[in-house]
Amino acid sequence: MCGIVGYIGHRDAYPVIIKGLERLEYRGYDSAGIALYDGNTVNLCKTKGKVEDLKKKSKLEISLNGNLGIGHTRWATHGVPNDINSHPHYSNSGDLVIIHNGIIENYESIKKELIKRGYTFESDTDTEVLVNLIEEVKSKENVMLGQAVQIALNEVVGAYAIAVFDKNKPDEIVVAKLGSPLAIGIGENEFFIASDASPFIEFTNNAVYLEDEEMAIVRLGKEIKLRKIKNDAVAYPNILELQMNIEEIEKGGFDHFMLKEIYEQPRAILDTYRGRLLAEQGIVKMAGIDQHLDKFLNANRIIIVACGTSWHAGLVAEYIFENLTRIPVEVEYASEFRYRNPVINKDDVVIAISQSGETADTLAAIKLAKENGAFVFGVCNVVGSSIARETHAGAYTHAGPEIGVASTKAFTTQITVLTLLALNLAKEKELFTDVQFREYLTELETIPAKVEKALESNSLIEIISDVYKDSTNCLYLGRGYNFPVALEGALKLKEISYIHAEGYPAAEMKHGPIALIDEQMPVFVIATNKGHYEKVVSNIQEIKSRKGKIIAIVTEGDEQVKELADHCIEIPETFESLTPLLTTIPLQLLSYHIAVMRNCNVDQPRNLAKSVTVE
Ligand code: G6P
Repeated sequence: MCGIVGYIGHRDAYPVIIKGLERLEYRGYDSAGIALYDGNTVNLCKTKGKVEDLKKKSKLEISLNGNLGIGHTRWATHGVPNDINSHPHYSNSGDLVIIHNGIIENYESIKKELIKRGYTFESDTDTEVLVNLIEEVKSKENVMLGQAVQIALNEVVGAYAIAVFDKNKPDEIVVAKLGSPLAIGIGENEFFIASDASPFIEFTNNAVYLEDEEMAIVRLGKEIKLRKIKNDAVAYPNILELQMNIEEIEKGGFDHFMLKEIYEQPRAILDTYRGRLLAEQGIVKMAGIDQHLDKFLNANRIIIVACGTSWHAGLVAEYIFENLTRIPVEVEYASEFRYRNPVINKDDVVIAISQSGETADTLAAIKLAKENGAFVFGVCNVVGSSIARETHAGAYTHAGPEIGVASTKAFTTQITVLTLLALNLAKEKELFTDVQFREYLTELETIPAKVEKALESNSLIEIISDVYKDSTNCLYLGRGYNFPVALEGALKLKEISYIHAEGYPAAEMKHGPIALIDEQMPVFVIATNKGHYEKVVSNIQEIKSRKGKIIAIVTEGDEQVKELADHCIEIPETFESLTPLLTTIPLQLLSYHIAVMRNCNVDQPRNLAKSVTVE
């Protein structure tokens, strides 16, 4: 997955594209490139490395003039990250220039054909094959760029979001999409193209999101028209007015996006239940589910599909749903589900959870579930994302843009939305009395303030982080609702500090991980006062007698665990099922501080990307 940006209009394209690429670096950051066109010359610069490296190189090597430009930040799929494999790519004649996010699966056979016809290739990429295929079609069929793109795309198999221009047509860029996201920002006689709206939100709030198998010729002075790649049908676009603002996607005084996003959680959770949770009236209102309540109430079971942190939120939801609604729940890695011939039928409800709404495996799992007749409900953060559009119904988390690659506020807001959904169903099934229901809602309303309180342990957590920053292995333990939080805590540490960490259900420790425990092993234990407290205390004793170091997350006022643990971090008291919203906070902060102390790139950890739009 990669980030693409394009501009055509009256401004200098260079600063628009560079800034846009910086905002899209979460999508990939192993190489970057830009092509600017001033009507006479195309100036192209690309490099292995980050957008920062591209900025330095381009300022030294190329003219930065031009009101048309395209740029790319890459996460390599075909060909190692190096200067040559970076985008943009020229066609052989030098007339066409392309950027691409996605994978052309049949590129090798197309490449062989093109080589037979005399084409040569500099890079190992599928993208250079695509731009030459477009060129071949254009000259063979004697058609304009838009038509050539359309014919060529009908020959390729795979996924793409592309932007391509022709030196002979300085007033247009052709874009197309299948599988990878592509938005067009519409300004006053100017257009922006990007993988999401963040590169252009400061210039315009009006945007069109292309659907799969749609393309557009973005031409100055003309309205945008969308065309179906397969059958040439023309459609007038649905222009959305976006609510996002620029402050939301800047760092706002924090050193890293991850830290900013951790601190945004009280607000993000509040925004997620605002207008939905009406404690005084004793109701939960969710527009996305109202018309589909029957589907849930009559469901055989709920299957949750997701990846990464979203999968952990799904595991928490399994505990919440089964406990509150008594509907059986299964949680699946989307990547496994889609390939293992699962049993799905029309009485199943599938919930797909995804921050970005673009994760390829989750999207494929949704399609499979739909083909088998299941009702599919989406929980996404990004408005208008592919998953939001592909599902039958859904509920957005209102976390705001999450830029840090390590997911934080997406996790807690996903749990919030899923809790609301479960409460709604429990009420419908009359599994709660009115009093119990109101009590629950009132407690949920206290969570933002309690998260705020949990964040106050930041200085203590920094001190603890310093003690354990050089560890090579860590264990995370939790039970019940907090077992998935242990998994999530371990994932956070792994992905940003590169320390090996494992999450385990505390009681399972004795079936293996206990063999690893010695004085070098920090064990992070979630030991809140609700649910199996005494059992967790026994687990802590087992660790202590093997000289492991214990860092415990406890409820305010705890005494028993404090006697045993090397360090304790307190969180406020709440209902057991709501504890994940609080216990996760210190674990996020721990991994953040440890990563900073180890000089790791917190917001852009190696080999990862925010949005995984490839399998
Ligand atoms: C990537 C990200 C993770 C995220 C996962 C699923 O691996 O680095 O932070 O949890 O994808 O992403 P989604 O957008 O579907 O929640």
